[in-house]
Amino acid sequence: MARVRKAVLPVAGLGTRFLPATKAIPKEMLTIVDRPLIQYAVEECRAAGIEEFVFVTGRNKQPIEDHFDHAYELEATLEARGNKQVELAQTREATITTGKAIFTRQQKPLGLGHAVWCARPWIGNEPFAVLLPDELTLSTPGCTAELVALSEKTGGSVIAVMDVPREQTSRYGIVAIRNDDGTVAEVTGMVEKPKPADAPSTLSIIGRYVLLPEVFDHLDKHETGAGGEIQLTDAMARMIGRSPFHAMRYRGARYDCGNRLGFLKANVAVSLARPDIARESRALLASLLKS
Ligand code: UTP
Repeated sequence: MARVRKAVLPVAGLGTRFLPATKAIPKEMLTIVDRPLIQYAVEECRAAGIEEFVFVTGRNKQPIEDHFDHAYELEATLEARGNKQVELAQTREATITTGKAIFTRQQKPLGLGHAVWCARPWIGNEPFAVLLPDELTLSTPGCTAELVALSEKTGGSVIAVMDVPREQTSRYGIVAIRNDDGTVAEVTGMVEKPKPADAPSTLSIIGRYVLLPEVFDHLDKHETGAGGEIQLTDAMARMIGRSPFHAMRYRGARYDCGNRLGFLKANVAVSLARPDIARESRALLASLLKS
């Protein structure tokens, strides 16, 4: 199978669960400690050897483009100050090399499947990764790196899944599997947001995918599914049986930062894990819990 070199980052959603914060600021620019969610997704891609990024954006998403651009005035000022080398390096870390990032607009938020379809001219005929940046995954070497490595072994498409309580299946895409070795299983079906009684398992799709370009053939039809949206899950479901399709149980940390408590949890967890602020964060939390 061809190497996975490109990632699609769908960031056109309205972020309604996070209003009013997301009225003027993209959800993906909300920060976990000191970097925006979208930067974690780009770093996860880089750890997987991915070099090219297609951002599917919408109105009000300009700050994402600016974040990955060269910030001439800021960098020149930091350089001139002489004692701001760390800050300068941190600023530059958030730059994507010229020509390696494409920003295309979805225009109407018709669903995740439609957002991914908007990226097709820049993907061409090769396998590619998809990351939903509001789902933060933290592990070494990274969820996407694990998926890319697995896809090289199995060929075909691979997606990351995690167990959820049965009463929550109607919030997620859920897979049906067979030949489960405890970590990797063949996918035999998938359904978007099933009622708990109808769910074929409790394994939910967590927003990390490596897909074959054939998914665009199915997305081309623009068929709507759950919630009246063009669902990526439906297009993926049509690929099952035509090419290998595997699910990988992801065992690292994962935070749904599209909702307030998931976002809060991610900020606390990352603060406690960051060597530069871990001790103070712990003390701060202890004192807040006492008061
Ligand atoms: P979500 O449903 O979590 O994002 O979509 P949302 O619509 O922004 O959030 P809420 O529910 O209104 O709070 C999952 C991912 O798919 C993208 C989102 O940006 C997010 O990364 N998406 C969703 C699109 O790019 N376009 C869409 O039409 C829908």
